[in-house]
Amino acid sequence: MSRFVRIVEVGPRDGLQNEKAMVSTADKIALIDRLSQTGLRTIEATSFVSPKWIPQLADAAEVFAGIARKPGIAYPVLVPNEQGYDRARAVGADEVAVFTAASEAFNRKNINASIDESIDRFRPVLERAARDGVRVRGYVSTVLGCPYQGEVPVSDVVRVAKRLHGLGCYEISLGDTIGVGTPQKARAMLKAVAAEVPMAALAIHFHDTYGQALANILACLEEGVAVVDAAVGGTGGCPYAKGASGNVSSEDVAYMLHGLGIETGIDLDRLAETGRWLAALLGRETGSKVGKALAAA
Ligand code: HMG
Ligand code: MG
Repeated sequence: MSRFVRIVEVGPRDGLQNEKAMVSTADKIALIDRLSQTGLRTIEATSFVSPKWIPQLADAAEVFAGIARKPGIAYPVLVPNEQGYDRARAVGADEVAVFTAASEAFNRKNINASIDESIDRFRPVLERAARDGVRVRGYVSTVLGCPYQGEVPVSDVVRVAKRLHGLGCYEISLGDTIGVGTPQKARAMLKAVAAEVPMAALAIHFHDTYGQALANILACLEEGVAVVDAAVGGTGGCPYAKGASGNVSSEDVAYMLHGLGIETGIDLDRLAETGRWLAALLGRETGSKVGKALAAA
């Protein structure tokens, strides 16, 4: 297992994109600024997608322009196409993430494109990013199951991950969008991808719908992955993935990693405090078990 694991905090994007209630721009900015004080190295800040598709993040430009970017922290943003890239660059984003899926059916629902079409849209984004010195992360969704197609062959995950890496994505995040995976399947999927894309360029992204996320992460850590996506307070979900619930919580992942003797650079108390602050804002209990336990202790 790696001695240092980087947690990619996706709460401000994956978390807030799925909230029914609108969170104000000021609160989104406050969330990111709080997260910037926790020792996280990567905070996915927002998403420059169509506001018709994701009204919750229609204020992406205002949010990105309003945060206090701290040196040493990367603040990637989602972009589905060149229009998103233009909007992100206009406010100074220097890291973006493109996203597609291993399942045709899900990709059609989520970004209204086939996998091939989505890659065609990403090509000019990656070309421009290379010229602009912008780093690009790539997501592959539905790596362990699709809400529309059901089973997703591992060979499809490998093929899409390899294409994104070949296009120039420095890191490929493998997403169990609807949280249906179990540890042996997660391990086998990661191993198959790592045979074609270097492990150092892979990240894992588990939603916790069936309560399997931590077990899946442990299995993948044992295979050598060293980047884990998670969302503070266990927020998260994709409005275009039926049944997708929260991401694994960042606090729970950090607690497990620290218990394994793995460094993250994160101040767990501060992170948990931020998770509870967000939960209060959203009018519910934090979705993090560690967040609750630390509050009670
Ligand atoms: P479309 O309707 O096929 O696209 O949507 P279009 O090109 O025909 O554009 C339609 C309208 O949107 C036009 O406006 C465009 O200008 C506008 P109109 O002329 O009707 O006024 N538009 C945009 N506006 C702002 N920013 C843009 C943009 N692009 C077009 N970038 C599109 C295609 C990809 C745009 C749409 O499907 C979309 O935005 N989808 C986003 C869905 C999404 O964000 N899903 C959640 C993120 S993925 C996820 O959560 C999974 C992940 O967490 C990993 C995992 O868990 O597996 C990453
Ligand atoms: Mg997700």
